[in-house]
Amino acid sequence: MTGLFITFEGGDGSGKSTQSALLVAWLRSEGHTVVTSREPGGTDLGVELREIILHRRGYIAPRAEALLYAADRAHNVATVVRPTIERGEIVVQDRYLDSSVAYQGAGRVLDGVEVRDLSLWASEGLLPSLTVLLDLDVVAGRARLTADDKVFDRLEAEANDFHARVRAGFRELADAEPERFLVLDAARNREDLAAEVRAAVLRLL
Ligand code: TYD
Repeated sequence: MTGLFITFEGGDGSGKSTQSALLVAWLRSEGHTVVTSREPGGTDLGVELREIILHRRGYIAPRAEALLYAADRAHNVATVVRPTIERGEIVVQDRYLDSSVAYQGAGRVLDGVEVRDLSLWASEGLLPSLTVLLDLDVVAGRARLTADDKVFDRLEAEANDFHARVRAGFRELADAEPERFLVLDAARNREDLAAEVRAAVLRLL
């Protein structure tokens, strides 16, 4: 028996963490064993890589950035995600390889197929059973971030046109794999969104 691997994707400020937390709470209340992870930073090594990727001062070349995310992913899949699904349990994760294709591919303008292939090498070909894409207007997403008054990390600090390319990149990925993706309008209220996510997960259980 293999478990489920469910990922949440979307731009910064799209509400991924809120929706993944609601899903995890519901799954646990239904008696499922759930392991949560995130990229970057789902493992001890990943926490160190995340610090470099997001907070290092100064330039990181796009290919180096792509490799750092891929390194984080390789370790997370090998030590957290695969062992969990092989036990028949459920992994709910914030961000996965679609983020690399959208941010490093569409955003940094690397070749999307190459970036995806790099991640597939890193993960030994693991794709999620379901990917929830929280699609949100870039300006609205930024407004949600600034509302928190927080300091922007290296990716968040990029200009709106970068984030617009990222959004378009995610939508292209969803169009290419409609059977894996559930695309939701992240501007809707969180309870409605959570209900749609639950319905999609129920179909897999
Ligand atoms: P995230 O943890 O979602 O940020 P936060 O906790 O601040 O909401 O992701 C960190 C950033 O990394 C985010 O801007 C997206 C970016 N990212 C990539 O560029 N490529 C990737 O492969 C991943 C997983 C994330």
